[in-house]
Amino acid sequence: MRSIIVTGGTGFIGSHTCLLLLNNGFKLYIIDSEVNSSKNVLGQLSEILNFDSEEFRKKIVFFKGDIRNKNIIENVFETSKEKNEKIEAVFHFAGLKSVRESNILPIKYWDNNVIGTMNLLKTMDKYDCKTLIFSSSATIYEPVKNRKLNEKDKLGPINIYGQTKLVIEDILQGIFNSSPEKWKIANLRYFNPIGAHKSGKIGEDPIGDADNIFPIIIDVANRKLEFLKIFGNNWGTPDGTCIRDYIHIMDLAEGHIAAFKFLLGNKPQIVNLNLGTGKGHSVLELVKTFQLANNIKVPYEFTARREGDTEYLVADNSLAISLLNWIPKFTLYDMCKDGWNWGKIKTKF
Ligand code: NAD
Ligand code: UD1
Repeated sequence: MRSIIVTGGTGFIGSHTCLLLLNNGFKLYIIDSEVNSSKNVLGQLSEILNFDSEEFRKKIVFFKGDIRNKNIIENVFETSKEKNEKIEAVFHFAGLKSVRESNILPIKYWDNNVIGTMNLLKTMDKYDCKTLIFSSSATIYEPVKNRKLNEKDKLGPINIYGQTKLVIEDILQGIFNSSPEKWKIANLRYFNPIGAHKSGKIGEDPIGDADNIFPIIIDVANRKLEFLKIFGNNWGTPDGTCIRDYIHIMDLAEGHIAAFKFLLGNKPQIVNLNLGTGKGHSVLELVKTFQLANNIKVPYEFTARREGDTEYLVADNSLAISLLNWIPKFTLYDMCKDGWNWGKIKTKF
């Protein structure tokens, strides 16, 4: 059976991508430490796909473990080898992602994100698995105002989290340069994924307090938080609030499948791709659309700007569109609708 390793596969982006990979017939070896997710999500995937228990066992193998422990990754490769199932590629989602925390605990972030990735790469090399889809971030770009970012734009992350992502991209470039005839690598630079699969059975479910806006909106809509703090209404944008490129999680997940197909069908290369919709929406627009789509109130107050925020962050996604035969389909309204479909049920688990 065609097999893939997915690190961080029970997390937000990982779980939605796993769903599509399973739908495409792949067997998955998922490694996750459950530091920010739970393996319960695998049962949900199985429900969406109508898997019986035998199919579940055949298609999803879960390893609870930290990729900083090389034995775990070796164990996964060995297990697949014993079954004569060569790992075709690794989808590497495992990482810590809070900008705020990364600036307070830099060692934790360098250790988790970079050392974890180094272990993975060493083991991939050892087992001659040289196709990698890496979760990078738009945060690696030097901030610009009122212009979409393209892949050739200057890089210059202003936080530790972003620096770990940039260092990993640099490491990957060096590895590619050392044997360009072998490696196939896609650095996918995500903009702002939100929403959930339309079934409402999976979605973003962080452990502890969320930092990103969408899970906070869900918490406010569920009355777990009294109101949303909107960080600043004095930015140089039409309504004074920051603009982001929100992308439906299923469009982002489809982008991974498209990037994988692209790598498989082309000569070895390393490619950097922005995954966003190319459309900017302000925080106020997001909140108002959420209220309209779901007929629910999301009280908000304006507060001071958040340190490290940028006014405008929107993708020039033309490269991804032209190379991948991929195009984001969903609107902000869809993201809000599907996200709440998950968010309102989540509280019942
Ligand atoms: P997430 O926290 O939901 O998923 C990450 C998963 O990795 C979690 O399940 C977590 O338990 C696991 N994990 C973390 N460190 C690990 C380790 N050392 N070993 C094994 N498992 C580990 O986050 P997400 O939103 O799904 O993000 C996935 C990836 O995409 C991350 O690398 C993140 O930095 C990157 N990214 C996310 C966004 C976003 O807005 N969500 C934007 C840009 C980039
Ligand atoms: C943040 C990170 C980014 C990371 C991404 C995904 C910062 C500065 N950037 O991006 O590096 O890749 O998450 O993990 O942290 N907002 C509010 N109130 C809130 C939360 C957010 O008004 O309670 C606003 C923010 O000011 C921003 C927008 O909502 O304008 C989106 O915020 P967020 O979801 O945190 O994403 P980014 O800031 O784009």
